[in-house]
Amino acid sequence: MQIKFTEIIKDNYDYTILGVYENNKLSQTTSKFDKDLKGIITKSLKNSSFKGKAGEILIIHSEKIILTGLGNAGELTTPTLNKIGGIIGTTLKREKVSTALLMLDNFEDKKNFEIIYGAKLKTYKFDKYLTKDKENFNCTLFVHTENPTKSKEDFTEINSIIDGVITTRNLATEPSNILTTTEFTKQIKYLSKLGISIEIIDEKQLKKMGANLILAVGKGSAYPPYIVIMKYTGNKKSKKTIALVGKGLCFDSGGISIKPSAHMDEMKSDMTGAATVVGIMEMIAKQKAKINLTGIIGLAENMPDGASYKPGDILTSLSGQTVEVLNTDAEGRLVLADCITYANQKVKPTAIIDFATLTGAIMIALGEYKAGLFTNSDNLGTKLLTAGNESGDELWQFPLSKKYNEMLSSPVADMANISHPDRLAGSITAAEFLHNFAGDTPWAHIDIAGTAWTTSGNDISPKGLTGFGVRLINDFLKNFNE
Ligand code: BES
Ligand code: MN
Ligand code: ZN
Repeated sequence: MQIKFTEIIKDNYDYTILGVYENNKLSQTTSKFDKDLKGIITKSLKNSSFKGKAGEILIIHSEKIILTGLGNAGELTTPTLNKIGGIIGTTLKREKVSTALLMLDNFEDKKNFEIIYGAKLKTYKFDKYLTKDKENFNCTLFVHTENPTKSKEDFTEINSIIDGVITTRNLATEPSNILTTTEFTKQIKYLSKLGISIEIIDEKQLKKMGANLILAVGKGSAYPPYIVIMKYTGNKKSKKTIALVGKGLCFDSGGISIKPSAHMDEMKSDMTGAATVVGIMEMIAKQKAKINLTGIIGLAENMPDGASYKPGDILTSLSGQTVEVLNTDAEGRLVLADCITYANQKVKPTAIIDFATLTGAIMIALGEYKAGLFTNSDNLGTKLLTAGNESGDELWQFPLSKKYNEMLSSPVADMANISHPDRLAGSITAAEFLHNFAGDTPWAHIDIAGTAWTTSGNDISPKGLTGFGVRLINDFLKNFNE
């Protein structure tokens, strides 16, 4: 879907989309239409069950008009506007519309851009490998505004979020035969054109450093592990930076503790945390935000092989702490631990936020609607929760405590990589494992195993990978100083 801003209202568009508030109060823009058309609209509304509730749609085919319910003007939150946009997008797609004019009140008000956000993201389709059933949905949405140049400028911010979300979805949807660890490092090189510096730490350097946790996870794979650092410096005067860390398992078979085969294909997206960090870096760079941000992703593939790491192995992490491996399928925390240590030792950020499809247990607890939040900082926690509620990328906070941490104890190493009794508090103990490496740095862990994916589509996403978390950090950064 292409977006164009225009001040021209002609009826040479396939459809014109008009907003209607609760109880069928017509939006002010309707005054731009002639009396006859207004009469037809009023009559059509009377003859239907349409009430102007948010998300309702009424199509007047004879007049090429799509009426869209907005609900109460005072209740137009970001998630509501996104949802309305998603429904508009779905309608345009279903009706195979190729040009439409969107007429809403106050399009100078950036809030209305949220409708475009929903429309673009809901009609996203990953179709690059389809040779037959391509959707052919190619709609240009003309957006009415008094000042197209200004609107276009104002739109860059929200457009950068859209771009970031789409990047995350694209990367997370790629299968592991294409998006190997090495290919991942190549596909993110475009970020340097946006002013982001990229440093790739390869296997040889990881060995030299002593990042033995990520090395162990990658040992059974034909593709080597990497830690990649992406640096965006939007505030040159400050040395402070926030670090974003992402789990990048290009495939997670479970390794020697192999997973059951049902749904194992979904583990191609076990690099969604890393994809989220890449999407955020792109978004922030496109916004030319005046902040500093460092993305750190751990790329590896977890496979069974003669060279694989095994249950019982004892590893020395980059931090120096030792880990007894009791299950090779608890690999994400190992990769993240070395990345978080890297952040603490080399980047020294003011805060660390990690994204990871870390535990199946978080899906059991929260399903697909909220991601798990775990943090050692009340300040970070509060601001993330608020950004979650405002943006629609919702979070739910879980506790951390010494007792949970003690469930990771091992008789032969500083900690084990799974808890005992196993399965109890699985998401919390996974977070406590990471806590051992974050130390006292303000740190938040976001377990996106449930929200990364939508089984049957949600308000702003078709079935598949959602791009959850990109929008969250956009909104979070507005209220958080490095
Ligand atoms: N990548 C998985 C978690 C996951 C499961 C994400 C399902 C998305 C959907 C992770 O590496 C894993 O295997 N976790 C184990 C941990 C267990 C062995 C302690 C799990 O959750 O079962
Ligand atoms: Mn696993
Ligand atoms: Zn995993």
